[in-house]
Amino acid sequence: MKLVTCCSFKGGAGKTTALMGLCSAWASLGYRVALFEADENRPLSKWKENALKSDTWDETCEVFAADDIGLLEAAYNGAEKQGFDFALADTHGGSSELNNTIIASSDFLLVPSMLTPLDIDEALATYRYIIELLVNEAIDIPTAILVQRIPVGRLTSSQKASSDLLNVLPQFDKPMHERDAFAAMKERGMMHLALANMEGKAALRLPMRNYATAMDELHVMRSFVDLKLGG
Ligand SMILES: Nc1ncnc2c1ncn2[C@@H]1O[C@H](COP(=O)(O)OP(=O)(O)OP(=O)(O)O)[C@@H](O)[C@H]1O
Ligand SMILES: [Mg+2]
Repeated sequence: MKLVTCCSFKGGAGKTTALMGLCSAWASLGYRVALFEADENRPLSKWKENALKSDTWDETCEVFAADDIGLLEAAYNGAEKQGFDFALADTHGGSSELNNTIIASSDFLLVPSMLTPLDIDEALATYRYIIELLVNEAIDIPTAILVQRIPVGRLTSSQKASSDLLNVLPQFDKPMHERDAFAAMKERGMMHLALANMEGKAALRLPMRNYATAMDELHVMRSFVDLKLGG
């Protein structure tokens, strides 16, 4: 089982959204995904609850409480024993022993960042924190910045300047665009199943197109992670 962790010091950077997208992309290919909830606000449990109501929860996936080290250990061992292919960990902002343990146990680290000066500062601080931790522990874990919530149209000059600042760090080859379909995932459940439920409903032709585009983008993101995991 490969563990992928979304981390950033900054709240609202897009960790949980990136995680939900990756989960859906892997689940749509038949992989079983364990979700480790290390954020005490429990966004993933809420996601599952909402998805169950809309019939968009993939039963091959499961949420495991992981908001202390004992629970994390139990979640990891349990998921591995149950044969999950991937685990995705959603961390809370800031640094803690729990976050350090998750980071150091991961196979890939995803650091989301929007393109505002404040977000870039926080992404650079998070990246630096991760590198210091990995150097101290003498481990090497592939890490990449995921530029989040990029407008589908042109970048403003300030976004372009922020993007240039991030270019010094390893990055996903494609950003995650700002899309209603991504924002709606927390209520609508797994993207691939929301899309499947729209199939054949004439009134939903337009949103369905948007969902299909968003799903394609999630697969581009997933392929990048697969590559980093050596798959
Ligand atoms: N690509 C996107 N397109 C549109 N909306 C997005 C996108 N990514 C994130 N959002 C929205 O931005 C908000 C913050 O995103 P999210 O909850 O994923 O961030 P987070 O880093 O997990 O935050 P927290 O630190 O609170 O856990 C949410 O309302 C989410 O729906
Ligand atoms: Mg979150």
